[in-house]
Amino acid sequence: ESPQELKGLRVVISAGPTYEDLDPVRYVGNRSSGKMGYALAAAAVRQGAQVVLVSGPVHLATPAGVQRVDVRSAAQMRSAVLDALPADIYIGAAAVSDYTPRQVAPQKLKKTAGTQTLTLELVRTQDILAEVAQQTNALKLVVGFAAETHDVEKYARGKLVDKRLDLVIANQVGITNGGFESDENAATAYWQGGEQVFPGTTKALLAEQLLSLIAQRLHA
Ligand code: PMT
Repeated sequence: ESPQELKGLRVVISAGPTYEDLDPVRYVGNRSSGKMGYALAAAAVRQGAQVVLVSGPVHLATPAGVQRVDVRSAAQMRSAVLDALPADIYIGAAAVSDYTPRQVAPQKLKKTAGTQTLTLELVRTQDILAEVAQQTNALKLVVGFAAETHDVEKYARGKLVDKRLDLVIANQVGITNGGFESDENAATAYWQGGEQVFPGTTKALLAEQLLSLIAQRLHA
């Protein structure tokens, strides 16, 4: 039995990658499996929350009791997240593409004779997390993830301040056993004036521990 630390609260969680289409058969994506976000959704339900899970394309079953909204692109994820508000807590565990092709070709792109290179023009996507944090319909707690390959604390604290977040969960990616795809992860949580280290464990257990911290920060 989990302690019902989030009883009665509405929690919106994003998970998985986004796919940015280039043409009808190709896309730009990333290695997120959705496991971390899905573990958080399952754990939040166990702690008594009402959970909306906005999910990019993944191969995972919907956790019991979770309301799941499937999306493909960053733009679709943004709409679905904004539609799911108001909420008490937002957790951005998705690996949202920072860039999307300027144009989606209506037909399959063909090889061009006589040239060995292809240049793609990409434009920035909107930052969903920053937008949620700026909602006037204020949430009680906005939690971002930071996936970094280096200088983890510097970039994580930067996101905390720049995006005006309450909590940033930093995980190192690009190492074995953790981050993208793996069933395990390690993280350090940063908030203004504090931090907490979560040593490597299963994403299921880490999710429980992170939600306990989130419940604590809610009452801080
Ligand atoms: O899905 P798994 O395989 O289990 O892997 C888990 C994970 C490594 C993907 C996850 O733990 C994680 O770190 N998720 C965030 C990945 C990421 O995109 O980090 P970022 O540092 O690029 O983005 C920072 C934050 O801004 C994230 O909360 C992200 O959701 C958010 N963001 C980013 C861009 C954008 N356009 N909109 C956003 O909301």
